[in-house]
Amino acid sequence: MILVTGASGQLGAGIVEHLLTKIPANEIAVLVRDAQKVAALQAKGVSVRTGDYHDVASLQTAFDGIDKVLLISSNDFNNRIGQHKNVVDAAKAAGVKHLLYTGVALKDIQTSPLKPLLEDHFLTEAYIEASGLHYTFLRNSLYFEVVPMFLGAQVLETGVYFAAGEGKVAFALRQELAEATANILVSDGHENKIYPLTGATAYSFAEVAQVLSAIAGKTVGYHSPESSEFEGFLRQIGLPEGIVLMSVLFAAGVKNTDFEETDASLETWLGRKPIDLQTFLQSVFA
Ligand SMILES: NC(=O)c1ccc[n+]([C@@H]2O[C@H](COP(=O)([O-])OP(=O)(O)OC[C@H]3O[C@@H](n4cnc5c(N)ncnc54)[C@H](OP(=O)(O)O)[C@@H]3O)[C@@H](O)[C@H]2O)c1
Repeated sequence: MILVTGASGQLGAGIVEHLLTKIPANEIAVLVRDAQKVAALQAKGVSVRTGDYHDVASLQTAFDGIDKVLLISSNDFNNRIGQHKNVVDAAKAAGVKHLLYTGVALKDIQTSPLKPLLEDHFLTEAYIEASGLHYTFLRNSLYFEVVPMFLGAQVLETGVYFAAGEGKVAFALRQELAEATANILVSDGHENKIYPLTGATAYSFAEVAQVLSAIAGKTVGYHSPESSEFEGFLRQIGLPEGIVLMSVLFAAGVKNTDFEETDASLETWLGRKPIDLQTFLQSVFA
């Protein structure tokens, strides 16, 4: 039986939706904190288990009878590495054979401005490797879906204002990551493999502005301020401190070319070319 954590979240829900098209519902389990959020899955025959990454005993009970666990990285930065270690320890204690983990496709965490935020993905991978469980690391690129968040709702009027310089990102659509992940979960031969799941092409924010210009039928410019100016602006418009920090660090990571590398794994496990920038932006802004 396959268990997917984070199934009340966007990526996890997408993965389970795809799994249901491939294997019987009674071969799928999910781990959630609140069973009510996935009542529809329970109605379809999916085994709903409750547990919390902070509570190792709840996880061990939830993993009873499970062969393969997909750990979706937590979105809670409060001791995220500790949460993930709990999942690994519980999986091992419960006799799980294979642990898959959704990390990040990032060039070199040691030299990345995003190290304070994202190093725990790599520490989690190291902990899983040391556990002796079979592992598969699904290193997800930045979601295309973060682009509108970085651009802001008024981007067609204001232009693109983002401190990413000429850095490029091989964005991937969350739903395509979900589909490819479901295909990996139901097939064999992934033991001790690392798959960077990225788009086929990396794009700069200047290219984002060019595509937006074509969609809007007018020039949408791109301005990349200094990081300190960018940070001050985000604060001035009243964004919460956590969002300011996250935006500044991600922009710096992009500028540092952290997300430029492309890999064929997403295309392989999707069975088609991943969506491109134009198609994505068209779907949001046209
Ligand atoms: N590649 C990217 O661009 C990108 C962007 C954003 C996030 N991410 C990472 O990828 C992950 C999946 O993305 P997503 O879009 O699906 O995120 P999401 O919609 O925020 O889902 C996060 C999931 O984690 C669960 N979770 C959080 N804390 C937990 C805990 N203590 N115990 C058990 N479950 C817990 C949440 O459960 P509840 O419903 O109970 O809260 C939710 O199901 C995120 O968690 C984050 O680590 C990647």
